[in-house]
Amino acid sequence: MKKLAYYIETYGCQMNEHDSEKIAGMLHSIGYNETNDKTKADLILFNTCLIRENAELKVYGKLGEIKKLKSTNKNLLVAVCGCMMQIKNNRDKITSKFPFVDIIFGTNNIHELPQLIEDAYTNHKRNISIIEDTQYIKEDMPKTRKYKHKALVNITYGCNNFCSYCVVPYTRGREKSRDPKDIINEIKLLSKQNCKEITLLGQNVNSYGKTFNNKYDFPSLLYDLDKIDGIERIRFMTSHPKDLSIRLIEAMRDCNKVCEHIHLPIQSGSNKVLKNMNRKYTKEQYLELIYAIKKEIPGIAITTDIIVGFPGETEEDFLETIDVVKKVEYDSAFTFLYSIRQGTPAAKMQNQIDDNIKHKRFNYLLEELYPIIYKKNQEYINREFNVLVDTVSKNNKDYLTGRTRTNKLVHFKGNKNLIGEIVRIKILDAKTWFLEGILV
Ligand code: 5AD
Ligand code: SF4
Repeated sequence: MKKLAYYIETYGCQMNEHDSEKIAGMLHSIGYNETNDKTKADLILFNTCLIRENAELKVYGKLGEIKKLKSTNKNLLVAVCGCMMQIKNNRDKITSKFPFVDIIFGTNNIHELPQLIEDAYTNHKRNISIIEDTQYIKEDMPKTRKYKHKALVNITYGCNNFCSYCVVPYTRGREKSRDPKDIINEIKLLSKQNCKEITLLGQNVNSYGKTFNNKYDFPSLLYDLDKIDGIERIRFMTSHPKDLSIRLIEAMRDCNKVCEHIHLPIQSGSNKVLKNMNRKYTKEQYLELIYAIKKEIPGIAITTDIIVGFPGETEEDFLETIDVVKKVEYDSAFTFLYSIRQGTPAAKMQNQIDDNIKHKRFNYLLEELYPIIYKKNQEYINREFNVLVDTVSKNNKDYLTGRTRTNKLVHFKGNKNLIGEIVRIKILDAKTWFLEGILV
């Protein structure tokens, strides 16, 4: 019998990427294969994101395109899941605007997917199943991972921080930590399957373990994971500056496998804006942390998230952000225009910033940022680094791409049988977005 095929589109962060690996795992376990061609699919899924308006609009656009496929293929099932579906308003919008959607589920009930598919086939009516918030963590879900040599591993779910601009605490619910035994077992199994790099995922990894009634915390986890044979690199994201402890900096310094890279979102350099964002640290405290990190871990790459145009942000506030960018000298940064998210405190703030001003500041930020990134990359020239090889380069089949421990993207000539290996590369040239090198 012909196997059924699914097509999946994933929006948003690595948390969603990893949820899609679980969705894929569930689908493979009930006999589906993946297809990259939506016209050949029996099931089309959209794993959605709500973090900014553009992520939301993209999904509506894509669903509009699917309507035609649905009318030509009567057996096609369409499913929408992910963060957007955790909010009732968005579900209502999907059901009224796109009545052909068959299945809607959320971030807490991926394991129900096989049942939802069976119900959709038998009932021929729309199935909606959402668990709004739960302390329950479903372990042992099958996962079909994108890469063999590197893996995403959840350590916390949800967020308790309620940054005033952010929708995540409402979509992903209250913070909960996975039992260390479950994390360690998952990673031991990955190492047996030749996985070399793990990225620990959480909205705020630094508060890992806060719900436990013992002292086991994120640094404890790093020390334990550092002992697992076969795993060569440990990464994590995201760290909240308010919870970044000296103990964590020491763990990063002491654990050989923990990579020399930290993603530490600043969001804004203005203390007034930070307060209104409910970030619970000041510019000065953030810079102190950065100096301590740089001192303990020489050569560490530092990346960040920056929001431009938060309500009430003045020119002076914005220049404080630029000041931080210059002082830290980021290796890279995700930069965002503030986007109103319904239901968050910042959406109700009166002093929203005009779009033109937001864009002007955004462009100015990039003008300041790019030369810094370029300069940091230049420091790699004529030096040798270990690079974990990821894939064949998209633009030139003779080239491979990989990452340094500091997470720099490297292009170099090589055979594809090196994928998944750690190779030694001498860097010959450096651009803003990647380094070029040769195998040594
Ligand atoms: N507008 C713009 N950027 C946002 N982020 C979160 N919410 C918003 C919003 N409403 C950004 C933050 C966060 C990253 C994942 O997305 O910088 O760190
Ligand atoms: Fe959103 Fe703040 Fe939680 Fe990050 S820490 S997910 S920005 S509320």
